[in-house]
Order: sequence, then C-alpha cells, then structure tokens
Amino acid sequence: MRILAIETSCDETALAILNVSGFFKRTCAVEAHLVASQIDLHRTYGGVFPAMAKREHSRAIVPLFLETLKKAGLHAPTEQDDFSFEPKLRAALEREPEMLELFLREIPKIKKPDIDRIAVTVGPGLTPALWVGINFAKALSLVWGIPLVPVNHMEGHVLSVMVPPGAESFRLGTGSFAFPAISLLVSGGHTEIVLVKGIGRYKILGATLDDAAGEAFDKVARMLGLPYPGGPEISRLAALSRSAGRERAIKLPRPMLHSHDFNFSFSGLKTSVLYLLRDLGGLEKISDETKMEIAREFEDSVCDVLIKKTLVAAKKYKAKSIIVGGGVSANRELARRLTEAAGEVGLSVTLPTKGLSTDNAIMIGLAGYFGKTAPLTSEKFIARGNLSL
Ligand code: KG4
Ligand code: ZN
Repeated sequence: MRILAIETSCDETALAILNVSGFFKRTCAVEAHLVASQIDLHRTYGGVFPAMAKREHSRAIVPLFLETLKKAGLHAPTEQDDFSFEPKLRAALEREPEMLELFLREIPKIKKPDIDRIAVTVGPGLTPALWVGINFAKALSLVWGIPLVPVNHMEGHVLSVMVPPGAESFRLGTGSFAFPAISLLVSGGHTEIVLVKGIGRYKILGATLDDAAGEAFDKVARMLGLPYPGGPEISRLAALSRSAGRERAIKLPRPMLHSHDFNFSFSGLKTSVLYLLRDLGGLEKISDETKMEIAREFEDSVCDVLIKKTLVAAKKYKAKSIIVGGGVSANRELARRLTEAAGEVGLSVTLPTKGLSTDNAIMIGLAGYFGKTAPLTSEKFIARGNLSL
C-alpha cells in the first residue's frame, strides 16, 4: 500500500510517500520525505504566529508536493491537461485562494499517481495551519478519487520510533521496543505521558497543566537573549557549563516532582528564571558563565521531572519499554539520562532517529497506514487544534 502523508500542524510543511508491502513480514519503504521549515521566518518574530504559518503552508504545499512525487518517481505529465474537476475544486478550496491558484496551475498537468491512500494530520496543532493540509488532502482526494485517513499528530510522534536510524526501507514492527510501552511525548505544544498498550491503544496518564516542555525551553531561551527555537540553544549552553565543570551556585525548583501523579507544570519554572534574572540585575549584568549555568540548571530541572515521572509510570503499568517522541526528545541530556536511569531498572529507551523527533510526515504516514479511512465529508476532517489521543 502506497501512502501519501501530509503534515502542516505547526511550522513545518512536511510530505512523505511510504510504500508498505508484505503481509506477515511487512516492509516499509520511504520513497520520499520532504520538509519545508518555516523556522527562519518565525525566528525573526521570536515565535510561531498561526496566520503567518498558514500563509507559508499555503505557498509551500503545492511545489513541495510536486517535488515529493518526483523524488518517489511518481511524477508523470498528462498528454492533455484535465480541467474537468475545476468546479468541484473551486468549491473545495474556496477558503484557500492562494493554494487554489497553484493547484489549478500544476495538478491538471500531471497523471494520477499510484497512491492508495492519503494520510493527513487533523490535530492537534494550530487550527489555521491544520486546515491547509486538510484542504489540500481533500482536494487531491476529490480530483483523483484517493481515500483519506485522518491522523492524530500525537499518534505520529508515538509511532515515530518505529523508523530505525538511516533506513530508507525497514521491517515494519516494534523492533527495538515492546508493548505495553510508556511514551513520553515532549514537544513545543505538548508534554504527555501515555500508556501505549498497542498501536491505536493509548491512554494519557498525565500531561502538562500549563506550558509544554519545549515551550518552556523556548521562553527561557528568549529571556536569556537566545534565538528561536530555544531548545537546542539552551542545550548548547548547558553542555558548555557542564564541560567547564564549575560548582553550581544557581538552584531552580523541580516543579511537581513529588506530586504523585503524572502531570507537569513548567510555567512556574519559567517564572523562577525570570525572578532570578531580575535578582541578578538583568540580562545585561550577568556573565556568559552565569547564563550557561542558568541554562544548565533549567535543563536539569526539566530532565529531573520528565525522567522521574516516566520511570514511575513505567513501573506502575509494568511497561516493557520506554519510547520518546516530539521535538524535545532531540535533547541529548534527556536522552542520555533517561536511557541510563531506565537501564538501571532493566528497561530500554527508544528515541526517534535524527530528523524524526521534530515534525515530519513519515510518522504521519505510519499512523495513516494503521488508521482507518473516512469519507471526505466526515467530521473527522475538521481541523481540531486540541484533539487528544
Ligand atoms: O515536535 P516539535 O517539532 O513541534 C511541535 O509539535 O511542537 O517540537 C518543537 C520543540 C521546540 O519547542 C524546540 O525548542 C524543542 O522542540 N527542541 C528542543 C531541542 N530541539 C528541539 N528542546 C530541547 N532540547 C533540544 N535539543
Ligand atoms: Zn509535533
């Protein structure tokens, strides 16, 4: 089964084509995988603005789709442009004038590609951004009669660990992990601990009550005068502080470490950094060393709470493995310490391979492969910013 996957929930326009073959021993080939990131644009504004994200997706998606087809060897021109679907398409893309124009210019020139289903992220995320992907998927489905599958973005992050490092083609299965698993989902918009009993069988055990872990990284980075996205920047400074090996003079709280549940709160931690900076006389007054130390202490605090709660959940639910997903799983310190701590109790930790921790369409394609198709008119194809697993 060949799947086209579409992801536009936040600031990456991502498309992928997966080809799953076999029955008992299934193989998944990644025939194309493209990401157009808006990070440079959002960096200049210090964060992601939904309307801006939407516009960028609308501009990027058609050219990116053509490139994706070419990569997968599925791009073929028609002998005669087919405009018969124009009236239907105009209705479907009524709210996407910019995309409609690009669509009408390009899509009638190509032959229907050999694609069996289209998987599209319907939530959670930025609602205007989600709509671009959904409307594009619907338009393709309408024109070529290809069935659609709605995908929950968080399920994509859960399943992202199925892709082994560097593999363009891999055995589709749980490979390096086993169910029941505890999934730690840490991104810019979410922080959740999920019990994964199997594919499609999820139970959220806890979540953040305010800011997500990645959001806290981004906000603290901003306070320290570092660019967006803040996670990698904080991580870089923290590593410098660790290698300098200085005694630590700065202490930040570990919010909800002893709360006896699986919830988190990172907004107070962010405020603690704010007060600390104020007490030190402001950002201009502090040395580079102190900045690095704040980054380190902040990163340690986030890691402490994430790791402790993940391990307690694994023990309580007798998990056979721990899996991690979302942008913050690219954090080296988190990966190192979680792997070490889990190893001490005999549990393996599987992290997404490079490039698949942040938003991508491979993970959406995997979720789409295991998901169910729904009619184009279904309510499942309404963008839901707060969709939960
Ligand atoms: O999953 P993702 O790409 O987008 C959302 O769905 O939110 O996650 C982006 C988040 C950002 O907040 C970014 O700062 C954070 O992941 N991030 C990191 C690292 N790399 C990215 N946080 C901590 N350490 C990192 N190395
Ligand atoms: Zn994400």
